[in-house]
Amino acid sequence: MKGIILAGGSATRLYPLTTVTSKQLLPLYDKPMIYYPLSMLMLAGIREILIISTPGDAPKFEDLLGRGENFGIKLTYAIQEEPKGLAQAFLIGEKFIGDDSVAMILGDNLFYGNGLGHMLRVAANNVGRATIFGYYVDNPSDYGVVYFDRGGIPVSIEEKPKESKSNYAVTGLYFYDNRVVDFAKQLTPSERGELEITDINRLYLQQGDLDVKLMGRGFAWMDTGTVDTLLGAANFVKTVEQFQGIIISAPEEIAYNMRWISKRKLLESAKKYGNSNYGKHLKRVANGKILYSENIGERPYWGRNDDDE
Ligand code: DAU
Repeated sequence: MKGIILAGGSATRLYPLTTVTSKQLLPLYDKPMIYYPLSMLMLAGIREILIISTPGDAPKFEDLLGRGENFGIKLTYAIQEEPKGLAQAFLIGEKFIGDDSVAMILGDNLFYGNGLGHMLRVAANNVGRATIFGYYVDNPSDYGVVYFDRGGIPVSIEEKPKESKSNYAVTGLYFYDNRVVDFAKQLTPSERGELEITDINRLYLQQGDLDVKLMGRGFAWMDTGTVDTLLGAANFVKTVEQFQGIIISAPEEIAYNMRWISKRKLLESAKKYGNSNYGKHLKRVANGKILYSENIGERPYWGRNDDDE
């Protein structure tokens, strides 16, 4: 399975923060925002990832993340000339996707919760179907919304309905089989002039091939579209990290626990980040001092002391 991080758009609601930089490069507490969705795809076991951004910002992402060598993955970059909708990612990424299945995550979405890694790997292995995630929110009209029948089967899906009888928002994380490219080609722009991801999900629903997994109360999902949600998400990360004395969503740590990079490589990154909390955390991981690491496998991970050089 391939992965796409969509990290374009103009983020005008965050002006002047985003006048010269991309929203997804802004700090979410202690690391650039894109680290969080990148970590999600890595936790799903995905190692070939395309980052799509604006002509001005794509090179900055490449400066930050390189070709993925520090994370044991392969990163490539593509440009979306104008924000013509989330589903356009599958047209831009057609060659990259090839014959594969693909997961897409929005570069401004933050997910956190116990068992998330397992949930992601199940979705990645849902052969021949699509998986999206529903999350109970108070303001469903701001999102794509999914409606269920009494048996909990998804029956319809709508983009930002004026009034919604369902509180289940569709999060910005989507797993598709290879049909998604053809489905994207069939779309016409919506009233707001965008190729809508909701229309893709509706096509899967009509074929009976859409699985909607609910993320329950034990999960946190946030987007970071406004200054308040940006600050709220940053505070969330700070609270979790300070309480537990860990760093969450560190791609180097995930890569190490996945056995995609060696201890030496991890220590190289730790050295690069020096005396920052992030650098110190990576060093503790490498030295087997982090006894509990989230989301790798279903059981707590008890450190890895072997040197696999
Ligand atoms: O966050 C989840 C929601 O994301 C879903 O519930 C909706 O169904 C989906 O349409 C989308 O909602 P928004 O319309 O609020 O998305 P927004 O326009 O804010 O774009 C989401 C992110 O994707 C944002 O960081 C900018 C980026 N983006 C957006 C568009 C339209 C692009 O990179 N390219 C684009 O063409």
